[in-house]
Amino acid sequence: MKQHYDLYEKDDFEVWKTLCNRQMSQLTISASATYLAGLEKINFSSDEIPRFNIINQKLKTLTKWELIVVPGLIPDLTFFELMSNKKFPATTWLRKKSELDYLEEPDMFHDVFAHVPLLTDTFFVKFLAALSSLGLTYGDNLDAIEALSRIYWFTVEFGLIREKDQLKIYGAGILSSSEETTYCLSEKATRFDFDLEKIMHLNFRKDVMQDCYFIISSYEQLYESIPEINKKMNLLYSKRK
Ligand SMILES: [Fe+2]
Repeated sequence: MKQHYDLYEKDDFEVWKTLCNRQMSQLTISASATYLAGLEKINFSSDEIPRFNIINQKLKTLTKWELIVVPGLIPDLTFFELMSNKKFPATTWLRKKSELDYLEEPDMFHDVFAHVPLLTDTFFVKFLAALSSLGLTYGDNLDAIEALSRIYWFTVEFGLIREKDQLKIYGAGILSSSEETTYCLSEKATRFDFDLEKIMHLNFRKDVMQDCYFIISSYEQLYESIPEINKKMNLLYSKRK
């Protein structure tokens, strides 16, 4: 599959522009410095829907990752297989103007605007690839995959990071949601320091804002948690045959 740039319509450009401008007005204050630095390296513009071939040229030079076009959600094993090979699956379609705030499935704004900037960070992508390799190791064990999905959910999608004593956002599920960007840093939200044991046993819902968030101290910490994840998985679950 590839991105059919000529099929984007005026409404698609308007949706991209509206969402970019709205999020950027919040994220310059609340997003992780690493995300913001990545955003600058990739150089998205609100005036233009990004072209995958240009993003890929930049990612290749920075971390050797690339985007692969997918139609929507894909099976877990395909997802893990792609990511363990430094390929990040992303959609090319954009939500409609009438559904700016809530989507059942991630669109290109989520996949690209929210995820791509962190694919420029060495420790973050090493974590992604290593977590995905574990996914392949336990591929036919549904309980194991659920535990790994929870780790992915509470880090890559809904993670917070402490930078210079300030709470910042790096989870793409938050970065692409105006409401959750405000909520997760507010007094109303429940937050814990990164805790693998807790995360691996915590249910989550996809259709509401999160009940709690976990705070990492660095992207190195994420990558360095891989041996512990491996150990816990080994103790709890049987590997793929
Ligand atoms: Fe995502």
